Amino acid sequence: MYFSCINCEEKYSINENIYTCRKCGDLLEVKLDIQEVKRKIKDEKWRSIPISVWRYSAFIPIRDYSKIITLNEGGTRLHFCQRLAQELGIKSLYVKNEGDNPTASFKDRGMTVGVTRACELNAKNLICASTGNTSASLAAYAAKAGLNCYVIVPSGKIAYGKLAQAIIHGAHVIRIRGDFDQALKMVFKFSCENKDVYLLNSINPFRIEGQKTLSYEICEQLNKPPDWIIIPVGNAGNISAVWKGFVEFKECGLIESLPRLAGIQAEGAAPIVKAFEKRVDIIEPIPNPETIASAIRIGAPVSWKKALKAIYESKGVAITVSDNEILKAQKDLASKEGLFVEPASASTIAGLHKLLKFNIIKRDELVVCIATGHGLKDPDIVLKMIDSTIEIEADLNSLINLIKSV
Ligand code: F0G
Repeated sequence: MYFSCINCEEKYSINENIYTCRKCGDLLEVKLDIQEVKRKIKDEKWRSIPISVWRYSAFIPIRDYSKIITLNEGGTRLHFCQRLAQELGIKSLYVKNEGDNPTASFKDRGMTVGVTRACELNAKNLICASTGNTSASLAAYAAKAGLNCYVIVPSGKIAYGKLAQAIIHGAHVIRIRGDFDQALKMVFKFSCENKDVYLLNSINPFRIEGQKTLSYEICEQLNKPPDWIIIPVGNAGNISAVWKGFVEFKECGLIESLPRLAGIQAEGAAPIVKAFEKRVDIIEPIPNPETIASAIRIGAPVSWKKALKAIYESKGVAITVSDNEILKAQKDLASKEGLFVEPASASTIAGLHKLLKFNIIKRDELVVCIATGHGLKDPDIVLKMIDSTIEIEADLNSLINLIKSV
């Protein structure tokens, strides 16, 4: 097992404290020793552990599993969405609800592994840039580990629920007069120059090692991989992690086929879709990205190269959706399936509509949409968009008259 540079394939020991390749500066990824993993999973004991991130310890490069920092992440529900499926005219639609995680987003999968790694390295200070969810998650895991935490967020551009989470968990919350892309550049440079501050953005390969468990869980919950995974793309770590998970499960003989990936971006923040549309291997960053889905308001995704590779390798696609399509999908999922997800997550349902219309996804294919975060993190959007409450006098007649009239 080792780190490998995704560009020049330079190898580094897994014990090194590095984020990027010293030779070419590109991202690193963990290469597992698949034979070793196969040996470990032969012992069927892991199957008696309920689905969760740490059920898959054999796939996670941590030294001492008795010292993990955990809030019981993963094991999120996979919902069969019959009403929406019927409306869309497809056979099998599932939503994997990552809002079930301890801080209500998928980030917890990566953070339990990343913060455990931080403890192995004896780090005392943790840092991240965030559009909201990463900061909420890191703050909670830093609290659990008793470590100092700095989170850098774009001022005025983060959902209130997420900000409240970071504050209550005791993080130093620093708002910059700039966007996420600037915040990430700052924290990356800072943590490279200050080795006593450990970086926990998804540029850190250990985050990806936790997030990939999302795919293992889906395979086990369905007893097979789906035909399609539809997933929102911001900084592009998660789509890369999800692909790594499926590929590893296949390499270990646990599944026979791989799904196709559909990466969804908002119209105003879509550098990966633009590259995909031109079928090129490089992105052009988008200055001043804009979308109502603040979680994915990102113009220069750090993991773009991993993401494009995942999309091309899976014979997948990348498409955009508009803010209005996102809001409609958010309402549909909540009012027809009982699932309240944040706008970035709803982009997957909006994307599914388009992919069916374009005949890219066929109506008999098995589709899983990844709902990455809970809707309660960003209630402002709903209250701003839909004011459908009715006020009456506090007497029974007013109530009777009202109910008769609606
Ligand atoms: N969905 C939600 C709810 C997110 O919070 C994010 C990313 C994504 C999707 C996209 O995932 O970046 O791995 O492509 N949020 C980050 C944050 C950037 O800071 O919370 P990605």
